[in-house]
Amino acid sequence: MTCNLVLFLSLLLGFSVCFPFRSGEEKRQKWPVPYKRFDYRPDVDSYCQALYPFCPTGDRDGRIPYMTESDVISVYRLQTPVWEFKYGDVLGKHIMHDAIGFRSSEKGINFTMEWYELFQLGNCTFPHLRPEVSAPFWCNQGAACFFEGIDDLHWSQNGTLEKIGELSGKRFNELAQWVQEDNTTGIYYETWTVRSDPSSNATVWFESYDCSQFVHRTYKKLSELGTKLSSQTQTNYTKLYLYSGEPKYLGNDSAIFGQPALKNLATDIKKFYYMFRPHQSFVEIALSLLEAYDKVVLDKRFYLYYNFEYWYLPMKYPYIQITYEEVPLP
Ligand SMILES: *[C@@H]1O[C@H](CO)[C@@H](O)[C@H](O)[C@H]1NC(C)=O
Ligand SMILES: *[C@@H]1O[C@H](CO)[C@@H](O)[C@H](O)[C@H]1NC(C)=O
Ligand SMILES: *[C@@H]1O[C@H](CO)[C@@H](O)[C@H](O)[C@H]1NC(C)=O
Ligand SMILES: *[C@@H]1O[C@H](CO)[C@@H](O)[C@H](O)[C@H]1NC(C)=O
Ligand SMILES: *[C@@H]1O[C@H](CO)[C@@H](O)[C@H](O)[C@H]1NC(C)=O
Ligand SMILES: *[C@@H]1O[C@H](CO)[C@@H](O)[C@H](O)[C@H]1NC(C)=O
Ligand SMILES: *[C@@H]1O[C@H](CO)[C@@H](O)[C@H](O)[C@H]1NC(C)=O
Repeated sequence: MTCNLVLFLSLLLGFSVCFPFRSGEEKRQKWPVPYKRFDYRPDVDSYCQALYPFCPTGDRDGRIPYMTESDVISVYRLQTPVWEFKYGDVLGKHIMHDAIGFRSSEKGINFTMEWYELFQLGNCTFPHLRPEVSAPFWCNQGAACFFEGIDDLHWSQNGTLEKIGELSGKRFNELAQWVQEDNTTGIYYETWTVRSDPSSNATVWFESYDCSQFVHRTYKKLSELGTKLSSQTQTNYTKLYLYSGEPKYLGNDSAIFGQPALKNLATDIKKFYYMFRPHQSFVEIALSLLEAYDKVVLDKRFYLYYNFEYWYLPMKYPYIQITYEEVPLP
């Protein structure tokens, strides 16, 4: 109990803690596996090329403007369907992207803040199999983007644009500092939430780390800073779930792909990911997710990459689900 609380707090505060259980089978694994924080963000490998540039209108060094302490900053909840741009409602009415808006009354300017993949979702969900590299290769960084302007139409027309609170410029500057720290230490996108079953008291094996989780962390921070948040509507978010029995730890790249002894496992993991290699277009990703579903249902297995380590998931019914469910404001 206490231990869980410590883990929980360290996650919240972004401390990197040392988890001794990895070294020995005899130690009990803690669930969910804590998302690993890093000291700094490594350079991106030049193999990873974005289809759309990351944060094109943001400050190059990720700076967030300083607000005068007496300023009054409005906070907006922003949500829009992910696939709207090209494909309308076909598949993704409830696959939503979340962001937060701010408006400075003194400056009369507003800002959008969001967290998303550097190389698009497909690349964060499935790796590349490169003939010249032994291990699957991931382009899975995600980061925060802060830029001037709120595109009202983009958010409000098929999504949400709603003012949910206010804070002082002084508090906003504290929030900005927290965002920078969060952005430096939490660097990898995790698409899936993995849990034991769909019931409310299911065990969560892994938490996702995506745009909506960033929004939840920011709301939590705002609430700690004394901001009261409230919404007129239900605050629902998209979650991508995998359902499995207790996951089994397999090892990191060098342990699995660097040792002849684990050659069979290495081959199996690559075979698994070969089905789901990242594709350029959304249609291909969608097809590949459907393929993933069949494959997962048939084989009842999934190799999850989390914190740069592989886990084996003994999959269970209902295997994969995309939900749009309520997460109340703090
Ligand atoms: C995924 O990464 C590959 C390799 O860097 C890149 O060619 C591709 O454009 C990326 N996919 C998307 C959808 O951006
Ligand atoms: C977060 O990190 C990315 C990648 O280094 C950077 O491009 C971005 O500007 C940073 N965002 C903020 C708000 O600091
Ligand atoms: C943000 O600023 C733009 C440009 O001034 C304005 O058109 C828009 O209505 C503003 N949106 C909000 C939510 O403040
Ligand atoms: C909202 O949805 C409608 C119908 O699907 C579409 O025609 C329109 O372009 C969308 N608007 C925005 C701003 O995405
Ligand atoms: C919670 O777990 C118990 C036993 O583990 C089970 O009997 C019960 O149905 C579960 N509750 C829900 C809401 O699923
Ligand atoms: C990979 O795991 C091994 C133990 O299985 C460990 O000794 C090594 O430091 C790990 N490598 C990295 C890069 O974390
Ligand atoms: C929002 O979530 C609640 C509870 O999680 C659910 O009952 C409701 O149907 C969801 N709303 C929509 C529009 O999906």
